[in-house]
Amino acid sequence: MEGYLETTHDLYERAAESPDVGLCCTTTPIWQLPGLVIPKRMQEMNYGCGSTVHPRDLANEPTVLYVGVGGGMELLQFSYFSRRKGGVIGLDVVDRMLEACDANLKKAEASNPWFKREFVDLRKGDALNLPIEDGSVGVAAQNCLFNIFTEDDLVKALQEMHRVLEPHGRLILSDPVCEQKMPQNLREDEELRALCLSGSLPLQRYLDLITSVGFGTVEIRAKRPYRILDPSQYDTSEQIYIESVEVCAIKDPMPSDGPCIFTGRTAIYYGKEEYFDDGAGHILLPNQPLSICDKTAGVLESLGREDIFISERTFFYDGGGCC
Ligand SMILES: C[S@@+](CC[C@H](N)C(=O)[O-])C[C@H]1O[C@@H](n2cnc3c(N)ncnc32)[C@H](O)[C@@H]1O
Repeated sequence: MEGYLETTHDLYERAAESPDVGLCCTTTPIWQLPGLVIPKRMQEMNYGCGSTVHPRDLANEPTVLYVGVGGGMELLQFSYFSRRKGGVIGLDVVDRMLEACDANLKKAEASNPWFKREFVDLRKGDALNLPIEDGSVGVAAQNCLFNIFTEDDLVKALQEMHRVLEPHGRLILSDPVCEQKMPQNLREDEELRALCLSGSLPLQRYLDLITSVGFGTVEIRAKRPYRILDPSQYDTSEQIYIESVEVCAIKDPMPSDGPCIFTGRTAIYYGKEEYFDDGAGHILLPNQPLSICDKTAGVLESLGREDIFISERTFFYDGGGCC
Protein backbone atom coordinates (compact mmCIF):
# COMPACT_ATOMS: atom_id res chain seq x y z
CA MET A 1 0.00 0.00 0.00
CA GLU A 2 3.03 2.26 -0.41
CA GLY A 3 1.44 4.58 -2.95
CA TYR A 4 -2.00 4.99 -1.39
CA LEU A 5 -1.15 8.32 0.24
CA GLU A 6 -0.17 9.66 -3.17
CA THR A 7 -3.39 8.31 -4.72
CA THR A 8 -5.31 10.00 -1.90
CA HIS A 9 -3.47 13.26 -2.53
CA ASP A 10 -4.30 13.15 -6.26
CA LEU A 11 -7.94 12.28 -5.65
CA TYR A 12 -8.45 15.24 -3.31
CA GLU A 13 -6.60 17.55 -5.65
CA ARG A 14 -9.25 16.66 -8.26
CA ALA A 15 -12.06 16.94 -5.67
CA ALA A 16 -10.81 20.46 -4.86
CA GLU A 17 -10.98 21.55 -8.49
CA SER A 18 -14.39 20.13 -9.34
CA PRO A 19 -16.62 19.32 -6.38
CA ASP A 20 -17.83 15.72 -6.26
CA VAL A 21 -21.15 15.85 -4.45
CA GLY A 22 -21.34 12.03 -4.20
CA LEU A 23 -18.03 11.74 -2.37
CA CYS A 24 -18.45 10.67 1.27
CA CYS A 25 -21.96 12.13 1.24
CA THR A 26 -23.42 12.27 4.70
CA THR A 27 -26.83 10.95 5.62
CA THR A 28 -27.27 13.58 8.31
CA PRO A 29 -28.69 16.99 7.53
CA ILE A 30 -26.16 19.80 7.64
CA TRP A 31 -26.14 21.79 10.92
CA GLN A 32 -28.41 24.80 10.46
CA LEU A 33 -27.77 27.47 13.07
CA PRO A 34 -29.27 30.93 13.50
CA GLY A 35 -27.40 33.42 11.29
CA LEU A 36 -25.19 30.76 9.69
CA VAL A 37 -25.14 30.82 5.87
CA ILE A 38 -23.10 28.05 4.27
CA PRO A 39 -22.05 28.96 0.71
CA LYS A 40 -23.30 26.57 -1.99
CA ARG A 41 -19.82 25.53 -3.09
CA MET A 42 -18.90 24.73 0.50
CA GLN A 43 -21.96 22.49 0.79
CA GLU A 44 -21.09 20.75 -2.47
CA MET A 45 -17.64 20.05 -1.03
CA ASN A 46 -18.98 18.41 2.11
CA TYR A 47 -16.86 15.28 2.01
CA GLY A 48 -17.60 14.18 5.56
CA CYS A 49 -19.83 11.43 7.00
CA GLY A 50 -21.52 12.94 10.04
CA SER A 51 -20.56 15.91 12.16
CA THR A 52 -17.64 16.67 14.47
CA VAL A 53 -19.13 20.00 15.60
CA HIS A 54 -20.85 19.75 18.99
CA PRO A 55 -21.40 22.92 21.06
CA ARG A 56 -20.86 21.05 24.34
CA ASP A 57 -17.21 20.42 23.41
CA LEU A 58 -16.65 24.14 22.96
CA ALA A 59 -17.85 25.53 26.29
CA ASN A 60 -14.43 26.67 27.54
CA GLU A 61 -13.46 28.35 24.26
CA PRO A 62 -10.82 25.83 23.26
CA THR A 63 -8.52 26.32 20.29
CA VAL A 64 -9.77 23.85 17.68
CA LEU A 65 -7.48 21.94 15.35
CA TYR A 66 -9.26 20.48 12.29
CA VAL A 67 -7.30 18.07 10.10
CA GLY A 68 -8.35 17.43 6.48
CA VAL A 69 -10.27 20.62 5.72
CA GLY A 70 -12.23 19.71 2.56
CA GLY A 71 -14.38 22.66 1.50
CA GLY A 72 -14.18 24.22 4.98
CA MET A 73 -17.77 23.73 6.13
CA GLU A 74 -16.87 22.37 9.55
CA LEU A 75 -14.22 25.09 9.97
CA LEU A 76 -17.00 27.64 9.47
CA GLN A 77 -19.30 25.77 11.88
CA PHE A 78 -16.58 25.59 14.57
CA SER A 79 -15.90 29.31 14.02
CA TYR A 80 -19.60 29.99 14.60
CA PHE A 81 -18.93 29.10 18.22
CA SER A 82 -15.36 30.39 18.71
CA ARG A 83 -15.60 33.74 16.83
CA ARG A 84 -12.02 34.86 17.38
CA LYS A 85 -8.87 35.26 15.33
CA GLY A 86 -7.10 31.91 14.91
CA GLY A 87 -9.68 30.16 17.09
CA VAL A 88 -9.76 27.34 14.54
CA ILE A 89 -6.64 25.93 12.86
CA GLY A 90 -7.33 24.06 9.59
CA LEU A 91 -4.66 21.70 8.21
CA ASP A 92 -4.47 19.84 4.92
CA VAL A 93 -1.70 18.29 2.79
CA VAL A 94 -3.33 19.14 -0.53
CA ASP A 95 -2.47 22.65 -1.77
CA ARG A 96 -5.47 22.88 -4.09
CA MET A 97 -7.79 21.86 -1.23
CA LEU A 98 -6.34 24.62 0.94
CA GLU A 99 -6.86 27.11 -1.90
CA ALA A 100 -10.46 25.97 -2.50
CA CYS A 101 -11.15 26.10 1.24
CA ASP A 102 -9.70 29.61 1.47
CA ALA A 103 -11.92 30.76 -1.43
CA ASN A 104 -14.98 29.20 0.26
CA LEU A 105 -14.18 30.88 3.57
CA LYS A 106 -13.91 34.25 1.82
CA LYS A 107 -17.36 33.63 0.27
CA ALA A 108 -18.62 32.76 3.76
CA GLU A 109 -17.24 36.05 5.08
CA ALA A 110 -19.29 37.91 2.48
CA SER A 111 -22.54 36.16 3.48
CA ASN A 112 -22.11 35.91 7.28
CA PRO A 113 -21.77 39.30 9.06
CA TRP A 114 -20.45 37.60 12.24
CA PHE A 115 -17.65 35.72 10.41
CA LYS A 116 -14.16 36.99 9.60
CA ARG A 117 -11.76 35.03 7.41
CA GLU A 118 -9.06 35.51 10.07
CA PHE A 119 -11.03 33.34 12.50
CA VAL A 120 -9.56 30.35 10.63
CA ASP A 121 -5.82 29.83 10.46
CA LEU A 122 -5.34 27.64 7.35
CA ARG A 123 -2.02 25.81 7.19
CA LYS A 124 -0.37 23.11 5.15
CA GLY A 125 0.22 20.03 7.25
CA ASP A 126 0.11 16.26 7.29
CA ALA A 127 -2.07 14.29 9.70
CA LEU A 128 0.84 11.87 10.09
CA ASN A 129 3.25 14.57 11.25
CA LEU A 130 1.31 17.53 12.63
CA PRO A 131 3.13 20.88 12.57
CA ILE A 132 1.56 21.74 15.93
CA GLU A 133 3.11 22.06 19.39
CA ASP A 134 2.58 19.42 22.06
CA GLY A 135 -0.43 20.03 24.34
CA SER A 136 -1.52 23.20 22.56
CA VAL A 137 -5.13 22.55 21.46
CA GLY A 138 -8.28 21.83 23.46
CA VAL A 139 -10.23 20.15 20.66
CA ALA A 140 -8.91 18.23 17.66
CA ALA A 141 -11.23 16.96 14.94
CA GLN A 142 -11.19 14.99 11.72
CA ASN A 143 -14.05 13.90 9.54
CA CYS A 144 -13.73 11.01 7.08
CA LEU A 145 -9.94 11.14 6.79
CA PHE A 146 -8.60 8.61 9.28
CA ASN A 147 -10.55 5.69 7.78
CA ILE A 148 -8.42 6.11 4.65
CA PHE A 149 -5.24 5.27 6.54
CA THR A 150 -3.78 1.78 6.88
CA GLU A 151 -3.69 0.57 10.51
CA ASP A 152 -0.04 1.59 10.99
CA ASP A 153 -0.70 5.07 9.65
CA LEU A 154 -3.94 5.34 11.63
CA VAL A 155 -2.00 4.70 14.85
CA LYS A 156 0.49 7.43 13.84
CA ALA A 157 -2.35 9.88 13.12
CA LEU A 158 -4.00 9.07 16.48
CA GLN A 159 -0.69 9.46 18.32
CA GLU A 160 -0.23 12.85 16.70
CA MET A 161 -3.70 14.01 17.79
CA HIS A 162 -3.04 12.73 21.32
CA ARG A 163 0.31 14.58 21.40
CA VAL A 164 -1.10 17.99 20.42
CA LEU A 165 -4.10 17.88 22.78
CA GLU A 166 -4.03 19.49 26.21
CA PRO A 167 -4.71 17.16 29.18
CA HIS A 168 -8.45 16.30 29.08
CA GLY A 169 -8.62 17.68 25.52
CA ARG A 170 -11.05 16.07 23.10
CA LEU A 171 -10.47 14.30 19.81
CA ILE A 172 -13.67 14.21 17.77
CA LEU A 173 -13.82 11.71 14.95
CA SER A 174 -16.36 10.87 12.28
CA ASP A 175 -15.54 7.84 10.13
CA PRO A 176 -17.05 4.85 8.37
CA VAL A 177 -16.80 1.47 10.13
CA CYS A 178 -17.57 -1.98 8.77
CA GLU A 179 -18.29 -5.18 10.70
CA GLN A 180 -17.84 -7.48 7.68
CA LYS A 181 -14.49 -8.67 6.43
CA MET A 182 -13.57 -6.29 3.65
CA PRO A 183 -12.27 -8.35 0.69
CA GLN A 184 -8.50 -7.92 0.31
CA ASN A 185 -8.81 -6.74 -3.32
CA LEU A 186 -11.06 -3.86 -2.18
CA ARG A 187 -8.83 -3.12 0.84
CA GLU A 188 -5.88 -2.77 -1.52
CA ASP A 189 -7.75 -0.69 -4.10
CA GLU A 190 -6.12 2.69 -3.44
CA GLU A 191 -8.84 4.70 -5.16
CA LEU A 192 -11.66 3.03 -3.17
CA ARG A 193 -9.69 3.54 0.03
CA ALA A 194 -9.21 7.23 -0.79
CA LEU A 195 -12.95 7.49 -1.47
CA CYS A 196 -13.60 6.31 2.13
CA LEU A 197 -15.12 3.05 0.89
CA SER A 198 -12.71 0.23 1.69
CA GLY A 199 -10.39 1.25 4.53
CA SER A 200 -12.90 1.11 7.36
CA LEU A 201 -12.35 -1.18 10.34
CA PRO A 202 -14.82 -2.97 12.63
CA LEU A 203 -15.90 -0.58 15.40
CA GLN A 204 -14.15 -2.55 18.18
CA ARG A 205 -10.83 -2.50 16.30
CA TYR A 206 -11.22 1.24 15.65
CA LEU A 207 -11.83 1.80 19.39
CA ASP A 208 -8.92 -0.45 20.36
CA LEU A 209 -6.55 1.64 18.25
CA ILE A 210 -7.92 4.88 19.74
CA THR A 211 -7.39 3.67 23.29
CA SER A 212 -4.01 2.07 22.42
CA VAL A 213 -2.49 5.56 22.02
CA GLY A 214 -3.64 6.60 25.51
CA PHE A 215 -7.17 8.07 25.34
CA GLY A 216 -8.69 7.02 28.68
CA THR A 217 -12.32 7.91 27.93
CA VAL A 218 -14.23 7.34 24.71
CA GLU A 219 -17.81 8.26 23.83
CA ILE A 220 -19.74 6.85 20.90
CA ARG A 221 -22.18 9.55 20.03
CA ALA A 222 -23.85 8.23 16.92
CA LYS A 223 -23.82 5.25 14.55
CA ARG A 224 -25.79 5.21 11.34
CA PRO A 225 -26.02 3.53 7.93
CA TYR A 226 -23.48 4.85 5.41
CA ARG A 227 -22.96 2.79 2.23
CA ILE A 228 -23.60 -0.52 0.47
CA LEU A 229 -20.93 -2.12 -1.71
CA ASP A 230 -23.00 -4.41 -3.91
CA PRO A 231 -21.55 -7.14 -6.18
CA SER A 232 -23.34 -5.45 -9.10
CA GLN A 233 -21.11 -2.38 -8.66
CA TYR A 234 -17.98 -3.56 -6.86
CA ASP A 235 -15.66 -6.56 -7.16
CA THR A 236 -17.07 -8.41 -4.16
CA SER A 237 -18.94 -11.73 -3.92
CA GLU A 238 -21.16 -10.57 -1.05
CA GLN A 239 -22.90 -7.31 -0.31
CA ILE A 240 -20.99 -5.17 2.18
CA TYR A 241 -22.74 -2.85 4.61
CA ILE A 242 -20.82 0.16 5.91
CA GLU A 243 -21.91 2.38 8.80
CA SER A 244 -20.49 5.67 10.06
CA VAL A 245 -19.76 6.64 13.64
CA GLU A 246 -19.21 9.84 15.58
CA VAL A 247 -16.75 9.29 18.41
CA CYS A 248 -15.21 11.58 21.01
CA ALA A 249 -11.95 10.40 22.61
CA ILE A 250 -10.86 12.31 25.70
CA LYS A 251 -7.22 12.66 26.76
CA ASP A 252 -7.97 11.50 30.29
CA PRO A 253 -5.38 9.35 32.05
CA MET A 254 -5.86 5.65 31.34
CA PRO A 255 -7.64 4.00 34.31
CA SER A 256 -5.74 1.05 35.78
CA ASP A 257 -8.57 -1.30 34.80
CA GLY A 258 -8.72 -0.09 31.19
CA PRO A 259 -10.49 2.65 29.23
CA CYS A 260 -13.99 3.90 29.97
CA ILE A 261 -16.02 3.46 26.80
CA PHE A 262 -19.51 4.89 26.72
CA THR A 263 -21.74 3.27 24.11
CA GLY A 264 -25.09 4.47 25.42
CA ARG A 265 -25.54 1.77 28.08
CA THR A 266 -27.71 2.84 31.00
CA ALA A 267 -28.48 1.32 34.40
CA ILE A 268 -31.85 1.73 36.15
CA TYR A 269 -32.34 0.58 39.73
CA TYR A 270 -35.91 -0.41 40.58
CA GLY A 271 -35.42 -2.09 43.96
CA LYS A 272 -36.91 -1.34 47.37
CA GLU A 273 -33.92 0.45 48.96
CA GLU A 274 -33.41 4.22 48.97
CA TYR A 275 -30.57 3.74 46.50
CA PHE A 276 -28.05 1.20 45.26
CA ASP A 277 -24.34 1.94 45.77
CA ASP A 278 -21.88 -0.30 43.91
CA GLY A 279 -19.01 0.93 46.07
CA ALA A 280 -17.13 2.09 42.99
CA GLY A 281 -18.62 5.55 42.58
CA HIS A 282 -22.02 4.70 41.09
CA ILE A 283 -25.09 5.51 43.10
CA LEU A 284 -28.30 4.40 41.44
CA LEU A 285 -31.41 6.21 42.63
CA PRO A 286 -34.71 4.37 42.14
CA ASN A 287 -36.01 4.71 38.60
CA GLN A 288 -33.38 7.28 37.63
CA PRO A 289 -31.46 6.24 34.51
CA LEU A 290 -27.68 6.51 34.89
CA SER A 291 -25.30 6.38 31.93
CA ILE A 292 -22.55 3.86 32.53
CA CYS A 293 -19.50 2.80 30.59
CA ASP A 294 -19.23 -0.72 29.16
CA LYS A 295 -16.82 -1.74 31.94
CA THR A 296 -19.32 -0.75 34.68
CA ALA A 297 -22.16 -2.41 32.75
CA GLY A 298 -20.17 -5.64 32.80
CA VAL A 299 -19.51 -5.40 36.55
CA LEU A 300 -23.16 -4.63 37.36
CA GLU A 301 -24.34 -7.48 35.13
CA SER A 302 -22.00 -9.89 36.90
CA LEU A 303 -23.81 -9.16 40.20
CA GLY A 304 -26.84 -10.97 38.76
CA ARG A 305 -29.26 -8.67 40.55
CA GLU A 306 -32.92 -8.70 39.62
CA ASP A 307 -33.54 -5.10 40.62
CA ILE A 308 -31.13 -3.43 38.21
CA PHE A 309 -31.92 -3.08 34.52
CA ILE A 310 -28.96 -2.59 32.21
CA SER A 311 -29.69 -1.51 28.68
CA GLU A 312 -27.95 -2.72 25.54
CA ARG A 313 -25.59 -0.42 23.62
CA THR A 314 -27.52 2.26 21.77
CA PHE A 315 -24.43 3.91 20.21
CA PHE A 316 -26.05 7.19 21.14
CA TYR A 317 -24.28 8.71 24.10
CA ASP A 318 -24.85 12.36 24.85
CA GLY A 319 -23.23 12.87 28.22
CA GLY A 320 -23.91 12.22 31.88
CA GLY A 321 -23.08 9.38 34.21
CA CYS A 322 -19.61 8.37 35.24
CA CYS A 323 -17.10 5.68 34.48
C1 LIG B 1 -12.84 12.84 2.76
S1 LIG B 1 -12.15 14.45 2.78
C2 LIG B 1 -12.95 15.12 4.19
C3 LIG B 1 -12.99 16.62 4.17
C4 LIG B 1 -13.68 17.31 5.35
N1 LIG B 1 -13.19 16.79 6.59
C5 LIG B 1 -15.19 17.16 5.28
O1 LIG B 1 -15.79 16.61 6.21
O2 LIG B 1 -15.78 17.63 4.31
C6 LIG B 1 -10.48 14.19 3.30
C7 LIG B 1 -9.66 15.47 3.46
O3 LIG B 1 -8.38 15.14 4.01
C8 LIG B 1 -7.34 15.74 3.24
N2 LIG B 1 -6.16 14.86 3.38
C9 LIG B 1 -5.83 13.75 2.72
N3 LIG B 1 -4.71 13.21 3.20
C10 LIG B 1 -4.30 13.99 4.23
C11 LIG B 1 -3.22 13.95 5.15
N4 LIG B 1 -2.31 12.97 5.12
N5 LIG B 1 -3.12 14.93 6.07
C12 LIG B 1 -4.03 15.96 6.12
N6 LIG B 1 -5.08 16.04 5.27
C13 LIG B 1 -5.23 15.07 4.35
C14 LIG B 1 -7.92 15.84 1.84
O4 LIG B 1 -7.28 16.81 1.06
C15 LIG B 1 -9.37 16.21 2.16
O5 LIG B 1 -9.51 17.58 2.38
